[in-house]
Amino acid sequence: MPAAATTTESPSLAGLAGEILRLKAERRAVILAHNYQRPEVQDLADFVGDSLGLSRRAQDTDADVIVFCGVHFMAETASILNPSKTVLLPDALAGCSMADMISADRLLDLKEAHPGALVVAYVNTTAEIKAESDICCTSSNAVEVVESLPKDAEIIFIPDKYLGGYVQSRTGRRLILYDGWCPVHMEVREQGIAALKREHPRAVVLVHPEAPLEVSAMADIVCSTEQMVKAVAAHSAGEFIIGTETGIIHKMRRENPGKRFYAANDLAICPHMKMNSLQRVHAALRDLKGEVKVPESLRARAWLPIQRMLDLGLPYKESFVGCKC
Ligand code: 13P
Ligand code: SF4
Repeated sequence: MPAAATTTESPSLAGLAGEILRLKAERRAVILAHNYQRPEVQDLADFVGDSLGLSRRAQDTDADVIVFCGVHFMAETASILNPSKTVLLPDALAGCSMADMISADRLLDLKEAHPGALVVAYVNTTAEIKAESDICCTSSNAVEVVESLPKDAEIIFIPDKYLGGYVQSRTGRRLILYDGWCPVHMEVREQGIAALKREHPRAVVLVHPEAPLEVSAMADIVCSTEQMVKAVAAHSAGEFIIGTETGIIHKMRRENPGKRFYAANDLAICPHMKMNSLQRVHAALRDLKGEVKVPESLRARAWLPIQRMLDLGLPYKESFVGCKC
């Protein structure tokens, strides 16, 4: 009987959530979640945001344990910024396909080919890569980070060629790009957006700068995930086409019940982000397992470019970059 099935299932999920909250208090933990996390994980988190917002929360928290519901480079960044905390990644295999596309050897080759060039590393990189870089950026501040560098500097931008290409178009500066990309954002395509636009001509189009450049060019707004969340809340329009991983739509719908959201592609799902189930969050807190820690000598070198980015003191843009509407 369906009714009985629902009643037996809901209390167990609710029970798990309750047990997570109990353990969270016992461990003096905070739960941070990225905007692409599963809905039930977002609903339980103390803070849901983008890479920059999560880094800042991780740096500022006075909790003893940070349960980082995101992917490995995000948990690693949290640990680099706040090494006295126990940072747990509920599923140790939650990586990032783009971060895996560049190795330290390949970066060293690139630096050797361009001696004197400054390296801007997207935060979607490992600690080893950050340690070889001059400054980090996220999707919410990449334009400003590049603009902060000396006008005559040669700049290597790694690893995302699309974010780098977008920054080039916004700043007019020529960057040495690396051939990295996000397979999830490759699913955000022109045809899908064009079809949705025909169906919903008044819809505002938001695209993440990891999408291919021809897709970003179709957008009214190009920005980070949290800037998207802020933008749809602030915008007077009632319909939005969302060109990024679909998990973000949960937060948008919850915060804007009167507005409509259409995924540019329902298949734009990051398998790594979805690995952190409620069960794994529970196990991580219960057993304090899945700790992400960087050896101190590497941590100190990887910390510098992240801190340089944070020290720029760029105001967190509540709105967005490149709005055409
Ligand atoms: P944001 O910093 O915009 O949340 O992006 C992180 C990411 O990995 C997008 O794929
Ligand atoms: Fe990495 Fe792409 Fe997943 Fe973001 S969406 S975590 S860039 S694989």
